[in-house]
Amino acid sequence: MQTVSNVLNLVKEAIKPALQKAQVVVDATAGNGHDTLFLAEHTAETAKIYAFDIQETALNNTRAITADYAGRINYVLASHDKIAELVSGPIDVAMFNLGYLPGEEHCVTTKKESTMTAVKQVLDKLSCNGVCVIVAYPGHEAGAQEASCLEAFFAVLPRKDYTVGCYRLLNHARTAPYAYVIEKVR
Ligand SMILES: C[S@@+](CC[C@H](N)C(=O)[O-])C[C@H]1O[C@@H](n2cnc3c(N)ncnc32)[C@H](O)[C@@H]1O
Repeated sequence: MQTVSNVLNLVKEAIKPALQKAQVVVDATAGNGHDTLFLAEHTAETAKIYAFDIQETALNNTRAITADYAGRINYVLASHDKIAELVSGPIDVAMFNLGYLPGEEHCVTTKKESTMTAVKQVLDKLSCNGVCVIVAYPGHEAGAQEASCLEAFFAVLPRKDYTVGCYRLLNHARTAPYAYVIEKVR
């Protein structure tokens, strides 16, 4: 099995240490629940997880595969641009796996406006050494727009407050998915 080319798996590995210490975790795009399940499996029993999605089907799928952890998951049928309103306290780890729900309507995809609002809200609420990971899919139109907005925003984020890394496959197509990892440094 290739690991280096699987951007999503690689960022999941990268956040495992932060997850072990996390008390508040956000899956900003719950989808079919695979990422929520991963977050639940790698956090302490005292950790609270918020799973956001705008599609009821997605949240139902997430509920089904995370049933063993339902006691500490808050399933939120709302856009992630409501994170500031709906998540109380600082966030230790947040994950955005952008794009559309595999197998469903591609028109229900994450969009640059709400994604940027949500990312800014998460960064404002990140605890010290808190981590936010974002997997971007520039291979479709809305995804390409999101990716370029994220790039422009992260490029000027003050270094004294956040460190931003980008993991990109340099010898794959330019449209291949890539990931940002942001850590709050103080
Ligand atoms: C690529 S899927 C996420 C995959 C998912 N994390 C998993 O493990 O299966 C992207 C999801 O983002 C959701 N989405 C789109 N816009 C959203 C928004 N504004 N707020 C929250 N979720 C949104 C879509 O409904 C879709 O389910």
